[in-house]
Amino acid sequence: MLRNIDINQMNRLMEENEDAKQIITQLLKNYHSSVSMIAHEIRNPLTLVSSSLQVIEVQHPEVKEFSSWKQTTDDVRFMCGLLNDLTDYNNGHSLHYSVFQIERLIRNVAVSFALSLDAEESEIEFSSQIIPGMGDFTGDKIKLEQVILNLLRNAKEAVTGQGTIFLRAERVDDNIVIECIDNGCGIPEDIADQIFEPFFSRKENGTGLGLSVAKQIVTAHSGTISAGCSDDGKTVFTVTLPV
Ligand SMILES: Nc1ncnc2c1ncn2[C@@H]1O[C@H](COP(=O)(O)OP(=O)(O)OP(=O)(O)O)[C@@H](O)[C@H]1O
Ligand SMILES: [Mg+2]
Repeated sequence: MLRNIDINQMNRLMEENEDAKQIITQLLKNYHSSVSMIAHEIRNPLTLVSSSLQVIEVQHPEVKEFSSWKQTTDDVRFMCGLLNDLTDYNNGHSLHYSVFQIERLIRNVAVSFALSLDAEESEIEFSSQIIPGMGDFTGDKIKLEQVILNLLRNAKEAVTGQGTIFLRAERVDDNIVIECIDNGCGIPEDIADQIFEPFFSRKENGTGLGLSVAKQIVTAHSGTISAGCSDDGKTVFTVTLPV
């Protein structure tokens, strides 16, 4: 998997040398299609295994008593999730553009996140402030939704059941600035520069692709994403998207 430092070096090479640009572009195309092909080939049998496990469980409910049954079904579920994340990572750079009201998109994500917390009867306090007047935005709606959801999901995991999450968005000159702020566990300094790398995770069931997918999508929109800490010790993720 390419690390951010490799991608930066490749971009530099491509800017400096036209031949290198052609070769790297072709190699990247091959690389993305190989990852797609491998994910696709693994997904087919894995889907079969997953369906078989479900059928077995329905027809022989006593299997749930076996000591390794839960671990097996959890492992299969994890692998399905990993494949989905891998596909998202592989496709993060290719955007399907449309013109839309980004303000409405952010509001919709905030509403569905709030509803999901309500449905779980979560004790997390979620609030948002989406300042009107952002105007039209050209970008990939679905992928941008994914970015905000990934940040909110991480915030939720960071506050572990209790705490506060605040989503804020406004237009500042020619940029849309989105901030996701939580008062959870925080990001230790020694890992701060690794969290956007693919497969970096400190969670037992994390694939470590959430933030790298988010970074890829934001970069494809010529934007930036960063993590920091507010004066009162909260974790702040900031996404800036040029209009
Ligand atoms: N809001 C946050 N507060 C504290 N740490 C965070 C926050 N967001 C991300 N991190 C750290 O960054 C790591 C990488 O996040 P990322 O979303 O890429 O992967 P993940 O959440 O571990 O797994 P997944 O692929 O399921 O999203 C996390 O494991 C966590 O340690
Ligand atoms: Mg995550």
